[in-house]
Amino acid sequence: MKKRKLKNFNNIPNHVAVIMDGNGRWAEKRGLKRNMGHRKGADRLYEILMASLEVGVKVLTVYAFSVENWKRPQAEVDYLMTEATNFLKKHESDIISKEIRVIVIGEDDRIPDYLREKKYYYMDLTKDYNKMTFVIALNYGSHQELVQMVKKISEKVKTNEIDINDINEQTVEENLYTKGLPPVDLMIRTSGEIRVSNFLLWQLSYAEMYFTKVLWPDFNKKEYYKALEEYQLRQRRFGGLTK
Ligand code: FPP
Repeated sequence: MKKRKLKNFNNIPNHVAVIMDGNGRWAEKRGLKRNMGHRKGADRLYEILMASLEVGVKVLTVYAFSVENWKRPQAEVDYLMTEATNFLKKHESDIISKEIRVIVIGEDDRIPDYLREKKYYYMDLTKDYNKMTFVIALNYGSHQELVQMVKKISEKVKTNEIDINDINEQTVEENLYTKGLPPVDLMIRTSGEIRVSNFLLWQLSYAEMYFTKVLWPDFNKKEYYKALEEYQLRQRRFGGLTK
């Protein structure tokens, strides 16, 4: 079978964000336990990370675990925590050799110690790499991120570090978990759900949205190229007029 390639490399999104949805349904459809969907989903994630590096996407941000996901059965939560840790262990040497910077965003509370340790170990290990940035949103919620941003800025106003009249968009950006990262250009959600689910609300403000019915464990490189090709055809006006 002929391997499908991206047709052209013009207008590649700088920052792609992905809601990797549909792991559970993928497994259930095959009579498997939901965790098998997460297992397959983790492999797809690596495939998409590598494809991003190949085509020149500079930042890939993925929604691995939301603050709402704690509502799931404990066994599934435990599995997801282990899967994320295993993913980081399994691909460590590859990520280093490819000089990918890894950032984990989200709250630290409730995350098991072994994963929290891995998070800081990885961020420190890869902090000087710049071939690409891989952002894992783990125990992440956009509302929580915005609340902590307001608290951080308020604290700086209280201690006279900044004047209230100097607060602007840049101040907000500098106090988000995504500090220093570019805005999202393309947001992909798999599995047919058409919503944003508390993901990067500030950062997505001008992103192009791509929704597909394909379940995340089936979202291979070919599907990713389809999303990128659709993005390449979009006209982004950022509120202005087309030239
Ligand atoms: C949504 O599918 C997916 C998740 C909540 C977890 C995503 C995690 C991975 C792809 C693998 C592990 C993560 C890393 C960082 C390696 P769902 O379970 O909500 O599917 P459903 O809607 O069909 O039930």
